[in-house]
Amino acid sequence: MKNPPSGPKGSTRKGNWEFQDASAKLQALGIHHLGVPDDADAAVKLVAEDRDGRADRIAKLLQLEPHDVLLDLGSGMGFMAKRLAPTVQRVHCADISEVYLADCRQAVADLNNVECHLIPYADLTALKGKGVSKVLSTLLFIHFNFYDFVYYLRGIGEILNSGGLVFLDFNDGDRFDLHNKDDSFNSHLGLYRAHHVEWGFGFMQMNSLTTLRHLIPQLGFELLLVNPSRTAFTELLLRRV
Ligand SMILES: C[S@@+](CC[C@H](N)C(=O)[O-])C[C@H]1O[C@@H](n2cnc3c(N)ncnc32)[C@H](O)[C@@H]1O
Repeated sequence: MKNPPSGPKGSTRKGNWEFQDASAKLQALGIHHLGVPDDADAAVKLVAEDRDGRADRIAKLLQLEPHDVLLDLGSGMGFMAKRLAPTVQRVHCADISEVYLADCRQAVADLNNVECHLIPYADLTALKGKGVSKVLSTLLFIHFNFYDFVYYLRGIGEILNSGGLVFLDFNDGDRFDLHNKDDSFNSHLGLYRAHHVEWGFGFMQMNSLTTLRHLIPQLGFELLLVNPSRTAFTELLLRRV
């Protein structure tokens, strides 16, 4: 899987994830590689199909079962939640952006087992006592720096049942190749200088599997699976010890 692009035009001072522009909002979902059409409805359909395929694969990795309570962290427009809700007991969508969460609410409006939570930065207290047994977080940790990683994994550890599984993706600098044109970091390098102030958190961050292997056990998780790709983009499966 290619690294998704990020840091599109349209971010506002209110926060990098509060896009006012519909096209910018879609671009920020990392859909460049899908060859998205100009027509907004067609674009949304294409992204939904992409997320459906990914959700099905992640459901297998997470071994989702009908009794599971699933947290979709950084749920975006709610594509994954909508796909997976019929297969589990309950889905909790949590996102920092009012704009994305409004779309998410609309996407899951027909489902009676999905709750949406607007969360402050690094604050998962809304999920406390919900009995979360599985967590998925797609295209969120790719934007996280080291501090964000620690805050959010610690927060997940506080609300996830013991033995619960976590799926996330991130960028593994151990595997980054400055000459790999498929890796979005190589195109973002040319954009970062001019946009580093207004895009801020919208940009992707580079982390490292070496660092995470060292950090993850300290935060009370076991690393079960590493799924690399042709770029630095890498998927992880963790288990809360
Ligand atoms: C690239 S989108 C991915 C959305 C969705 N997971 C998907 O795969 O389509 C990143 C999402 O994470 C949310 N987000 C960004 N920073 C966040 C943070 N610190 N805490 C919670 N959500 C955050 C954004 O508002 C956005 O909805």
